[in-house]
Formats: sequence, C-alpha cells, structure tokens
Amino acid sequence: MKKTIAIQNGQHQHDDHVCMSRRRFLLTGGLALGVVALGGGLPGLVRAAGETVSAVQAGYQRQKIGSLSALKAGVPVDFAYPFADVSNILVKLGAQAGGGVGSDKDVVAFNQQCTHMGGPLQSTYKDQYQVLGPCPLHLTTFDLTHHGMVVSGHGTESLPQIMLELEGDDIYAVGVMGLLYGYADNTVGRSA
Ligand code: FES
Repeated sequence: MKKTIAIQNGQHQHDDHVCMSRRRFLLTGGLALGVVALGGGLPGLVRAAGETVSAVQAGYQRQKIGSLSALKAGVPVDFAYPFADVSNILVKLGAQAGGGVGSDKDVVAFNQQCTHMGGPLQSTYKDQYQVLGPCPLHLTTFDLTHHGMVVSGHGTESLPQIMLELEGDDIYAVGVMGLLYGYADNTVGRSA
C-alpha cells in the first residue's frame, strides 16, 4: 500500500508521526550522548549549582618489604602487597633495570601472577636472563629489566611492577604499575 509523505519546514511528516531529518537526528543523538558522557565521567557537572562535591581518592599504602643488606643477588624473596593474597617477588637482578633502586639500580619487585590468564609464576625466576617465567600454562615470559615486558608466550600485557623506594637500608613498596590480574582496581580489591 502506498503511503503519503508530506514535507513541512524541512521535516518529513509520515502519517501522524513526525520524523526527524537525518541532520536533526544526528544532532539530537550527539547531544544525548554528550549528556550521558558528562553524567558518567564528570558527575560534579550535573549536580545542582553551588553544591559541594568532595573527591574520593584511593591510594597505595607504604609498606616495608625488605632491606638492601639482606638481599643476595639472583635470589628472589617473596612478599605480599598491596593485599595479603597478592604474591610478588623482590629481587636484586645484578643488572640495571627500569624502576630499579639501590646503588646499581638493579633491585626490583614484580607481581607473580601471569597477566595472560592468571597462571602462577612462583619459582620461575631465571637469574641468567633476569626473566620471570615461562608461565606453566602458556609459556609467557617477562623481562624484569624492562618493566616486566613480555618477551615470549601468549601474554600481551607487561607484568605489574611494584614501585619501590629506599629509606637508608630499608626497601618500601609504594605502589603498583600495571593492573593486577583479577582486579578492576589495584587499590580496591579483587573483582573475581
Ligand atoms: S596464563 Fe600465563 S601464559 Fe597463559
């Protein structure tokens, strides 16, 4: 059946319904998306004028994890950070590393859960190559001299590096660079 479409002032009138023009639809859609984006990303902007909004900021704890004098080159030490169930290693590589502390910039710390599918990397440190791995599940290996970069295997994300600070002989963990496996936010807790 043939239907009649009348055009009035740039809008198509179809039976009893007014259809938007393509240009008008795109403009309206863009405005709606903009409001959604502002509402989700900048909540302060959609609150009433004059209302005070305080920012909530989560941070990492500063935690002593060892001492320089107790570390032996090539012998990793396990520690938990930033939560009791997050296993990491602290190791003196004997080679300068990105993020390394100490006079030789070779003391680093990394998480021990593979970024691919969460495989366990405990006891896989290879001092000869300063790598952690291969992961027992799909063989991903991480270079600890280059911020935990993947050097082989199925993984694509670098291993989270524990950020370190020195205070005299004491070594402190002060943050995590990279998202821990199974976490939506390193400072909040495991999501699954
Ligand atoms: S879980 Fe480690 S390589 Fe897949």
